[in-house]
Amino acid sequence: MMSFDLVLFGGTGDLTWRKLMPALFQAHRHGKLPPGGRILAVARDERSDDAYRAFIQERFSEVEASKRPSDDEFAQFAALLHYRRMDLSQPDHYAGLRRWVEDSRSDGPADTVVMYLATSPYLFPVICEQLGAAGLNGPRVRVVLEKPLGHDLASAQDINRVVKSVFQEQQAFRIDHYLGKPAVQNLMALRFGNALFEPLWRRESIANIQITLAEGLGVGTRGDYYDKTGALRDMVQNHALQLLTMIAMEPPSTNDADAIRDEKLKVLKSLRPFSSEAVARDVVRGQYRAGTVNGQAVPGYLEEVKVPPGSHCETFVALRTEVQNWRWAGVPFYLRTGKRLAARDAQIVVNFREVPHPIFPGSSGLSRANKLVIKLQPEDGLELHLLAAKGGGSNETLSPVSLDLDFDKAFPTERVGAYERLLLDAIAGRLNLFVRSDEQEQAWRWVEPVLHAWAQDSVGPRPYAAGSWGPPAASALVARDGHAWAEEQ
Ligand code: BG6
Repeated sequence: MMSFDLVLFGGTGDLTWRKLMPALFQAHRHGKLPPGGRILAVARDERSDDAYRAFIQERFSEVEASKRPSDDEFAQFAALLHYRRMDLSQPDHYAGLRRWVEDSRSDGPADTVVMYLATSPYLFPVICEQLGAAGLNGPRVRVVLEKPLGHDLASAQDINRVVKSVFQEQQAFRIDHYLGKPAVQNLMALRFGNALFEPLWRRESIANIQITLAEGLGVGTRGDYYDKTGALRDMVQNHALQLLTMIAMEPPSTNDADAIRDEKLKVLKSLRPFSSEAVARDVVRGQYRAGTVNGQAVPGYLEEVKVPPGSHCETFVALRTEVQNWRWAGVPFYLRTGKRLAARDAQIVVNFREVPHPIFPGSSGLSRANKLVIKLQPEDGLELHLLAAKGGGSNETLSPVSLDLDFDKAFPTERVGAYERLLLDAIAGRLNLFVRSDEQEQAWRWVEPVLHAWAQDSVGPRPYAAGSWGPPAASALVARDGHAWAEEQ
């Protein structure tokens, strides 16, 4: 069995205690962490292993109850945890880290060393360079890079250049945590483990595809970070485009990481490029105003803490694009994401075409057409919407019904959360669910004209009330093609 060391740079940061530690604990609880593992948290301040363990234990009180360890469970998990103070610009601190990695295990160095960079991205270059200089870049070492991976194409390329000067591409694990979500893995299974849908998965049968990543939450206390980012960089460039590639890609010839990533890259390269007229026509940006979410009055974006007055930062994006190839020519792909929307709801809706010749009364019209809904959140599942006869008479109107698959019920004990899946994959060296540098750069290349057009535009985002589905222009974008968002159908 493989032994591993996992080094968490940013070991006291939000991401570590909110996502990574709970995920590692779940993996430990489920018996999925390979034995012989050690987890080393690295941060700036001085503290002992025990003080760090106490810090993490306390933070677990903020994790949802079913994912919290009992005292006994925590004691077992805590035995894996270690802490080390590092100044990330000091070469001798990396030499010390190397000694820890190489000399401090009684059974010799671990088979795998995962360097997880859960820090601000401006530190990625210095950490990678220093790891390289200290010789911590050999074939046993993997580096995991957390999002955001750059701010635009040039900064993403800068980061990739440094990463590539130190590590091989197979050692670089770029995280997009949406790829770790069970529903996304099920999308691969649905498309390439079943013969049923493939003949229909094309322009002849599909009218349009909608990807919605809606959040009920606002920016919270992250106003300063968010204001420099905005929804296009935060959610579209990565999560929404990754989902689009998995929906639109051609069947890969194997389940290997590069076979899959080659196909995803082809989709990104086939997306219709944005001219400035296309940005004005096909992209809607919005910003929330005060409103009500789940019965609670909430402030507008400009009233949130650390948001600069008059900010034009977008908290909502809806856009229309096309994948320019034989399979998808002319099929609109609508992407939509936003904060403070009506619900936390992430789903992909595949709307099929109408029957060519309706014979039942009242059954024509897209609102009644067949659709497949791939639900990511709040629960993951699949719904297949059909029209059926209730059996009420010879000339009756058809009624919509759906076949629903709830994965929590289908697999009650085997669900693995996104970060747990991705951490286990990084430890095991499985790259399938990680983003390759060329995919990431191509995604930036595609969104950049939108960023440029917005930078020239003094009007700013369209307002929408918190608790709504975004500005009315988002509905108009889809209605223009004779379609409607799922909740309007
Ligand atoms: C992150 C974004 O990548 O994804 C956040 O930076 C967003 O702004 C989050 O809230 C959403 O992730 P999830 O898994 O809660 O849908």
